[in-house]
Amino acid sequence: MALRYRTAGESHGPLLAALVEGLPAGLEVEAERIDRELARRQRGYGRGGRMAIEADRVEILSGVRWGRTTGAPVLLAVRNRDWENWRRGLSPEPADRGAIEAVRRVRPGHADLPGVLKYDLDDARDVLERASARETAARVAAGALARHLLGELGVGLGSFVDGVGDVVWDGADGTWDLPALHEQAEQGALRFPDPTVDARGRAAVDEARGQGDTLGGTFVCFATGLPVGLGTHAAWDKRLDGRIGRAFLSIPAIKGVEVGFGFRAARLPGSRAHDEILPGGPGDGRRGGVHRETNRAGGLEGGMTNGEDLWVRAAMKPIPTLMRPLRTVDLSTGEPTSASTERSDVCAVPAASVVGEAALALEAAGALVEKFGGDNLADLRAGFEAYLDRLDRRWTRP
Ligand SMILES: Cc1cc2nc3c(=O)[nH]c(=O)nc-3n(C[C@H](O)[C@H](O)[C@H](O)COP(=O)(O)O)c2cc1C
Repeated sequence: MALRYRTAGESHGPLLAALVEGLPAGLEVEAERIDRELARRQRGYGRGGRMAIEADRVEILSGVRWGRTTGAPVLLAVRNRDWENWRRGLSPEPADRGAIEAVRRVRPGHADLPGVLKYDLDDARDVLERASARETAARVAAGALARHLLGELGVGLGSFVDGVGDVVWDGADGTWDLPALHEQAEQGALRFPDPTVDARGRAAVDEARGQGDTLGGTFVCFATGLPVGLGTHAAWDKRLDGRIGRAFLSIPAIKGVEVGFGFRAARLPGSRAHDEILPGGPGDGRRGGVHRETNRAGGLEGGMTNGEDLWVRAAMKPIPTLMRPLRTVDLSTGEPTSASTERSDVCAVPAASVVGEAALALEAAGALVEKFGGDNLADLRAGFEAYLDRLDRRWTRP
């Protein structure tokens, strides 16, 4: 079975849920590990008041027994503490209709306007509650399960922020030590891998906040230890670069993704954009018995992993809810007005980088399950190791 996940739940409803199908049986699952990822998503300089209210914890409601997956669908829930304040406003009971005022001053940059028009609604709350990036808590919980699986196979994940507004950390040279950058980023409030740039970024966030404005930015997500040959060149919809692109672009506010040097490669001659293949290298088979001195391709060639670290960069637009609101129209009158305001982040790039890790984890785990089988962990591991052995033997055959 392929690895699949769905989410449900509203921003101020009782909970966010993630349903994950296709995880192999026998995978050890620890709620604390999921909670750790949820906590990482909540941190970061520039978050609004909401994250101070919520202290996200996962509840594992199905598919795990005595600490191990059974092969059945896993249902995860993250409760919203703020629900207490919204019980009647978001209640399923018809008797509660009108308990809170409708949102009519639709916010530019949000799902508000297209949502009410498409679904023929009078209250943008019916759209924004689901469109809210609070949904990404469920994705991070699902991604944490994928991380459990990746960890079993020696695959590591990480990320760092390399831009907030016009403050940029410019260290991308294709020869970097990604796990070291991740470790440094974990120390910074904005998740920059350099404390001086992190401080400059925080000053930029303060300035934006002071002006009732918001900031976006860029971040890099990576996976280490993936074997060569995940994904395929043979079918467009199974190319791993395409799948990862879709997973990232489906994160709210992510408007661009590049694989490796991406847009930068477009401005370089081929001699400085590709990664020459050199003989030999670390011999556990994952890299196919060769090595490279650079990794500008981001670990993907022809829609397949090539044995190098996989890395992608994503661009997040500035948060679209501004405390100094933009112009809009009132849904009920069509008259010009200013957009509604809700408690909101000024900058959520660090949180988005953690969501990006989850998206990457789910795509990488999905590709592994697809290639090596996903009924149970022992079979998956056996298939994985046999494959690495075959790759190892390839160069040593007489
Ligand atoms: C982690 C994260 C936190 C976000 N926080 C907010 C927020 O507090 N306020 C807001 O207006 N948008 C926030 N967004 C962005 C909106 O959810 C998003 O821009 C909006 O739903 C419209 O979708 P689109 O930008 O993909 O078109 C956040 C996005 C992410 C990934």
